[in-house]
Amino acid sequence: MEDFIYFGLARGLHVVCVVLWIGGVAFITTTLIPSLIKMADPDKRLLLFEQLEGKFAFQARIVTLVTGLTGFYMLEYMQAWGRYQQIQFWWIHLMTLIWLIFTLVLFVLEPLVLHRRFKMMAAENSDRAFVLLHRMHIILLALSLITVFGTVASVHGLSVF
Ligand code: HEM
Repeated sequence: MEDFIYFGLARGLHVVCVVLWIGGVAFITTTLIPSLIKMADPDKRLLLFEQLEGKFAFQARIVTLVTGLTGFYMLEYMQAWGRYQQIQFWWIHLMTLIWLIFTLVLFVLEPLVLHRRFKMMAAENSDRAFVLLHRMHIILLALSLITVFGTVASVHGLSVF
């Protein structure tokens, strides 16, 4: 019984973290980057982006970590690791894939490579760099939203396979 309460708490925390994380990605993709692209001064654009996204990246690292921990805890609680071998649980694969992509970007690629690379690209051609950045965010946001939709619909009865 007590375990079941922990499962409920983990599920609630998992969804709150997903909301904060994907909501932040949605704001950056649909509002922040398009507004920066419209700014005339490329130096100001880069500075503002670094300040705002830098703050979000810190929060994103924490919520990504908690999303992963609560997700794996739920799999362990339900003894549902076998879902990774069943195609009808495609949404578990998708959740894990999205989590892996963001974990890799936030903890490894961004601090080690992407930050420096993006600064160099923006110094050479700011418009091109920000349009590319926007495209990458659109792809990640679309994948994340498909994941949220697919997961909630499947957990509550939708069956694709
Ligand atoms: C390591 C990564 C992850 C693991 C292991 C994981 C695992 C899980 C598990 C086991 C559940 C409960 C499923 C059930 O009740 O049958 C769940 C629920 C959920 N997950 Fe994840 N998850 C992960 C990442 C993500 C990501 C990245 C997203 C969003 C993009 C996400 C969105 C959701 C949502 C919205 C629910 C609630 C579904 C509902 O109860 O209606 N998860 N997750």
